[in-house]
Parts: sequence; C-alpha cells; structure tokens
Amino acid sequence: MEGGGAYNRSSRVQAAGLLPAVALLEDAALKVRLTAGSAPLVIVDYGSSEGRNSLLPIGTAVSALRARAGPTRAISVVHTDLPDNDFAALFRTVESDPETYLRDGATFVSAIGRSFYQQLLPAESVTLGWSSWAVQWLSRLPAPIPDQVQVAFSKDAGTREAFARQAAEDWRAFLAARGREMCPGARLVVLTMAVDEARDFGYRPLLHAMYAGLEDLMAERFITADELHRMAIPTVGRSHDDLAAPFVNAGSFAGLSPSHLEVFQAEDRIFNRFEGDGDAQAFGASWAAFSRASVFPTLAAALGGGRSDARFDEFLQRLEAALASRLAAAPTHMSIPLAKLLLIKA
Ligand SMILES: C[S@@+](CC[C@H](N)C(=O)[O-])C[C@H]1O[C@@H](n2cnc3c(N)ncnc32)[C@H](O)[C@@H]1O
Repeated sequence: MEGGGAYNRSSRVQAAGLLPAVALLEDAALKVRLTAGSAPLVIVDYGSSEGRNSLLPIGTAVSALRARAGPTRAISVVHTDLPDNDFAALFRTVESDPETYLRDGATFVSAIGRSFYQQLLPAESVTLGWSSWAVQWLSRLPAPIPDQVQVAFSKDAGTREAFARQAAEDWRAFLAARGREMCPGARLVVLTMAVDEARDFGYRPLLHAMYAGLEDLMAERFITADELHRMAIPTVGRSHDDLAAPFVNAGSFAGLSPSHLEVFQAEDRIFNRFEGDGDAQAFGASWAAFSRASVFPTLAAALGGGRSDARFDEFLQRLEAALASRLAAAPTHMSIPLAKLLLIKA
C-alpha cells in the first residue's frame, strides 16, 4: 500500500465493501466463547494497513465484548501487517481518530509486523480474528504475467495455473496459522476479493485502463518493456469453491469450520455518485486514487531501481493521471465481487 496516510485517505471502496462483514463480526463477538478468569480477550486484525478501515469493525467487536465481559476485563487489540507497512500512521490513527475504539481505559493496542502466512501469536491465545481486503495478496509472485498486471485478465493458461496453485497453498497456510493461534471456540471473520459464479474478477474497465496507461508510459519511454513485463499485482480473487476447498473432505481444516461463506457484489459507490452528479472527472479521479493507494507502489517496485528508483514518485503521479483520464472518458459500473466468511475453532 502507499504509505504516509495515503491508504487511509483513498480506501473508501474498501471501507464500503467491508460493511457486510462487520455484521458477521458483531455476531461473532456476541457469541464467541469467552475464557474464564481475568486474562485479556484478544482481537487480532490481520492486514490492517494504516488502520482507518479497522476502526469500525474493531470498535464494533470491542463494544460487543465489553458489554459481555464487563468494564474492567482487559481487551487487547493486535493489528498485523507486513514489516514495511506504515505503522506510524496506524498508531496515530488509533490514537487520535474520532472513531477510535480506544475509549474505555481497559482496551489496549499493539501491532505485529510479520506476514500472516505464519503463526503470529502464541498458541490458543486469540479470541476473535478479523481480516478485510488482505488475504487476496499472495505470499509471493508465483510467475511473471506476460500480458497484464492482474492475472485474472491474462490469456496465458500456465500463468493462471501458477497463481491458482499459489492461492490454494496460501489460503491453507493462512488457515493453519490461525487454527494454531485461536482459542477453542474462537471465531474468525474474513472479507476478501473473490470471483463471481462466472469466475469474473470484476474491475474490468479499471484493469484494462491501468494496463493501457502503462503501455502509454512505455510508448513515452518513461518505463522500459522489461519493467512493464516485471510489473504484476500478486493478488487473486477466489471463488466460493476455492475458499471452501480446505474444508470439503473433513468439514474442518486446522480445527476451523466455516459457519458462513458467501460471495456477494459490493456496492459501487463511485459509479453511484457519478449517476447522481454526472461528474466524470471525479469518477476517474476516485478510481485512480483507489488504485494508486492500493497497488501502484507494488507496480513501481518493478522499476529498474526498485523502491529507490528516481522515477518512483513521478511514476505514481503519471499513472494516476493516465488512469483517471481514461476512466473519465467512459464512466461505467464496476463489478466488485467479494467473499465473507465466518470460521469457528472447535
Ligand atoms: C488493501 S489493504 C487492507 C487494509 C484494511 N484491512 C482494509 O480493509 O482496508 C491490504 C493489507 O494487507 C497487507 N498484507 C498483504 N499481504 C500480507 C501478509 N502476507 N501479511 C500481513 N499483511 C499483509 C498489506 O500490506 C495491506 O496493508
């Protein structure tokens, strides 16, 4: 993600998309088994980024647990993300955002900068888990994408197969690690990018405009063909069956059983606003800002000099402008398939 608070400012698509999963999390917090005694109840937020979008779900979970556990029981909230995440922005957000969940003197915040594809917390220590818009990110890029930056739009069957294999392996690794960390009876809610029944990843106009914008930058000799070839977004949309696969044979995996699994369409608030105000520039700018904050730094890391390439910032600016103007020329509805799951530890 882009740091410096950019993800916090430009993640309204994610903020709207995760709302249907907040109800699942609230229900989980109301029903989860609470350990006896005075040990802290532990809520973990896997893939928090800069924290703005965590405030509503975590605040909802804290309120539900607080009502059940009483005013003095400690609640420990642990945000996790990759080591390069902007944790300073996260801590500032939790400290000073008016929507913060840190209100009652018995709720505490901390963070872990390690990949969630491994165990992050002591065995059987987590009461409630939450992860939104994060597990679509693979643990590694399994192969270069020869003809796109998002594998869903690649015509190369071998590349698509390599991504599908990595996605299946990573999903199992994520579940296995959570299965070890969660207390008996603990609950985990996951919201992630998905593909619909037709295996459509969505965002088609956005991804085509992004790739065309990159080809423009190559035609203008701002980036090289090699750099464009290396650019890839290591994310996947999983189908209902992909997400259910680990549980199919035994009904559970790593001690976890799915109690809810649903693929749904998120509301496209950017297009809805365009239909209301007819402002095509704002439409293009909003999707371009979303893309910049979420994936442009990953693309820019493929520049010859990596993250310290002298063109890094200009690359972000030029691609954002190219994408905004292409999208503004033909505003259209964006399909946004998402999946929400509730998993319970036996
Ligand atoms: C799109 S942001 C989602 C932020 C927030 N949860 C939301 O709903 O808006 C995805 C986050 O997942 C993090 N992420 C990706 N792979 C990860 C991994 N293996 N371990 C931990 N975090 C990861 C990214 O660094 C990024 O901050």
